[in-house]
Amino acid sequence: MIDVINLRKSFGALDVLTGINITINKGDIVAVLGPSGSGKSTFLRCLNCMEDPTGGSIIFNGVDIADMHVDINVHRRHMGMVFQHFNLFNNKTVLENVMMAPSYLRCQDLKKAKRKNRITRIKNVFRSKKEELIPITQTKKQIQEEARQQAMDLLKRIGLDDKANVYPSTLSGGQKQRVAIIRSMAMNPDVILFDEPTSALDPEMVGEVLELMKRLADEGMTMVVVTHEMGFAREVASRVIFMDDGQILEEAPPEEFFEHPKDPRLKEFLSKIL
Ligand SMILES: Nc1ncnc2c1ncn2[C@@H]1O[C@H](COP(=O)(O)OP(=O)(O)O)[C@@H](O)[C@H]1O
Ligand SMILES: [Mg+2]
Repeated sequence: MIDVINLRKSFGALDVLTGINITINKGDIVAVLGPSGSGKSTFLRCLNCMEDPTGGSIIFNGVDIADMHVDINVHRRHMGMVFQHFNLFNNKTVLENVMMAPSYLRCQDLKKAKRKNRITRIKNVFRSKKEELIPITQTKKQIQEEARQQAMDLLKRIGLDDKANVYPSTLSGGQKQRVAIIRSMAMNPDVILFDEPTSALDPEMVGEVLELMKRLADEGMTMVVVTHEMGFAREVASRVIFMDDGQILEEAPPEEFFEHPKDPRLKEFLSKIL
């Protein structure tokens, strides 16, 4: 699904990613470990084009999204991202947060289709062979209603449907992060990228977020998770990678990764945290 080939990223003279190679397949749960400053966040941000790579390729569903000429917005729709600090819109209700992106994008699509059809209709007047119109199956109102219903269903799944109309500031950290996770699911992404989703939480709230992530994993969602939660990496990940100095130094299934680490820096890293 995603092929990362010799991905490099520099900020001025600072080389942050110095050649990342990894293949992420459908259904993979990749846990990304590594010391602070090793380039983990930059790697995720390059994956969904929040940062422009300096070099290399990211082949996502057959298209190189590192190429400046592709429309990354089309591809970004298929990649969810969950951040350490939730990044919910505080001036929108919980429900609006969850339904906003799908509703907006589908309405934009509708607008584009209608515009295209108007032009086609005019052109068709002068054509002997008429071009087909894009079928329009929903009104704007129906799109919004469908997005609202889908958002409510997702909120029900995490037991927060009673919070639909409150603002995020009234939620606990764990609730906020669970809303952020279903918000990214509302786009039906092919993959969700998580950047330390539990690092900003009080310890008693870590469990509920990890549990939701585990449920997603069990349902077959493809996930890349930067985390310090060794339990999650061990039990949920299908592969664990260790990054240092902008490179992947080790990549292995969890058991091999934790029981038989090969790279000296990984051994040292594990000895400090386990
Ligand atoms: N926008 C930026 N401009 C300049 N340097 C950056 C930027 N983002 C990250 N860096 C640098 O890149 C390095 C890796 O950062 P980061 O990817 O956040 O590491 P990690 O997530 O593993 O802690 C750090 O030295 C950081 O200071
Ligand atoms: Mg980081």
